Amino acid sequence: LRLPEDPMSRITLSRFLIEEQRKGGSLPPQLRLLIETVGRACKAISYSVNKGALAGVLGEAGTGNIQGEAQKKLDVIANDYLLDANEWGGSLAAMASEEMELPYHIPGEYPKGDYLLLFDPLDGSSNIDVNISVGTIFSVLRCPEGTEHASEESFLQPGTRQVAAGYTVYGPQTMLVLTWGAGVHGFTLDRETGSFVLTHRDMRVPERTGEFAINMSNWRHWEPPVKRYVEEMLAGSTGPRGRDFNMRWVASMVAEVHRIITRGGIFMYPRDAREPEKKGKLRLMYEGNPMAFIIEQAGGMATNGRERIMAIQPEALHERVAVFLGSKEEVEIVTRYHQDA
Ligand code: AHG
Ligand code: MN
Ligand code: MN
Ligand code: MN
Repeated sequence: LRLPEDPMSRITLSRFLIEEQRKGGSLPPQLRLLIETVGRACKAISYSVNKGALAGVLGEAGTGNIQGEAQKKLDVIANDYLLDANEWGGSLAAMASEEMELPYHIPGEYPKGDYLLLFDPLDGSSNIDVNISVGTIFSVLRCPEGTEHASEESFLQPGTRQVAAGYTVYGPQTMLVLTWGAGVHGFTLDRETGSFVLTHRDMRVPERTGEFAINMSNWRHWEPPVKRYVEEMLAGSTGPRGRDFNMRWVASMVAEVHRIITRGGIFMYPRDAREPEKKGKLRLMYEGNPMAFIIEQAGGMATNGRERIMAIQPEALHERVAVFLGSKEEVEIVTRYHQDA
């Protein structure tokens, strides 16, 4: 007798990864352990996020980060959970985070491994206090061969070199969405058993879409190709696009990307006239590259308007990037408008 509710018939994250590894391919044991450990840290973050005011975790930490942002308590807690979970496992040479100016080195008492882990511990943190979805984003690179001590330099690899990337969305359900270059798979956290269970095998971004996501309040700061692209969508069925579009803006990139991977759409955070030297708002290493890897693996496309995000050679750990990602058809159009301009 097999009930759909039978917990033993489910494919957990651990089982899925072990079985994938057995098939051969690009999932060595050290990487598998690393992914599981990140998943474990995300569970701890999920519990804190869910407890909210009951655990006293809402509100400001009273500190700032290298991005020039005021840190929320949960930005700091999530960062600590990821460091604590990952420092002792032996898979990593170093870690880097949106919330830390410099790379975190594995303490001397622990063995060092072959990988570098980068993360945005809590994405969309302006949404925590209002009980709207937030997330964690992570990216894994290989530490360059022959590196004695990983430095900032070791992290400066283009997104095409990522060996894994993923995000966890803390929403009505907590879901981990993962790629290591063999498609994108989604796991839902079962709070009773405490495991991530495979619920979304081989996720694909729908190619065609009628939805876009952008912070429209920045309109006046945008470059002409972005204005043109959005204007044409706003014109609806009587405009050049010949159909109506719908708009959403959650202000949590993770929630936005999750919606797009589920039902299609385009997400945009263009660079704008306020801070031209910064190239955009979002961070290449913690947001741009991992999301680009996931979206490409799901059949979508991700550019900075001019080139593929994953092809950019990073020059600094906290480098910014303009982001256009999602359904192929749409990202192609807005990228063409940039190239024409
Ligand atoms: P973070 O909370 O990690 O700093 O990231 C916030 C990012 C991203 O998640 C979101 O898309 C964007 O900032 C929202 O920006 P606006 O507040 O400018 O809309
Ligand atoms: Mn932030
Ligand atoms: Mn973020
Ligand atoms: Mn963040």
